[in-house]
Amino acid sequence: MVLSTGFKKIKTAVFISGTGSNLKSLIKFTKKKKSPISLDLIISNNKKAKGLNYGKIFKIKKKIFNFKKKNHAENLLLLELKKNHIEIICLAGFMKILSNNFIKKFKGKILNIHPSLLPKYKGLNTHKRVLKNNEKYSGCTVHYVNSRLDSGKIILQKKVKIKKSETEASLKRKILLQEHLLYPKAILKIFNL
Ligand code: GRF
Repeated sequence: MVLSTGFKKIKTAVFISGTGSNLKSLIKFTKKKKSPISLDLIISNNKKAKGLNYGKIFKIKKKIFNFKKKNHAENLLLLELKKNHIEIICLAGFMKILSNNFIKKFKGKILNIHPSLLPKYKGLNTHKRVLKNNEKYSGCTVHYVNSRLDSGKIILQKKVKIKKSETEASLKRKILLQEHLLYPKAILKIFNL
């Protein structure tokens, strides 16, 4: 889907569960003039997520939702998003699966980043599986979120070459660096910029 933008930046929320390195790169991107989005809200299901510190450092509102009761959490979350006029959601290492009902409410407006060349290696432990299969290449993908895990329309991908000496840790590092460049590029792309 193509979104159009005028002068006003589109309000965006980023959902995280852990380190938040993609969140950090998105914050830096949204501070640039060319960014069509502003980053107005950080959501986490995990109050201990390291990435929440970026909310403090960059003075961005953050909210934590306990997903043990998923329906309840999602209802409260929807209210929070509405209150903050959020139009786009970027999932960045968010480890909970959103319900169909939630996804429908933000149809075509939820993006995710995944550390593989989708449709290959959906789900968890991607680097481990990639190395086990002796793949020559891996990479990362930014895609729209639909009701099936890691299966929505692909927006952008970046391929990386796997070295003979590659370990899970080195591949993770190498791909994360590319993720930080790819997410902002994918956002520019959906706005035709
Ligand atoms: C990234 O590898 C992303 O592709 C995946 O989860 C990881 C999150 O890393 N969905 P970070 O929290 O952004 O550092």
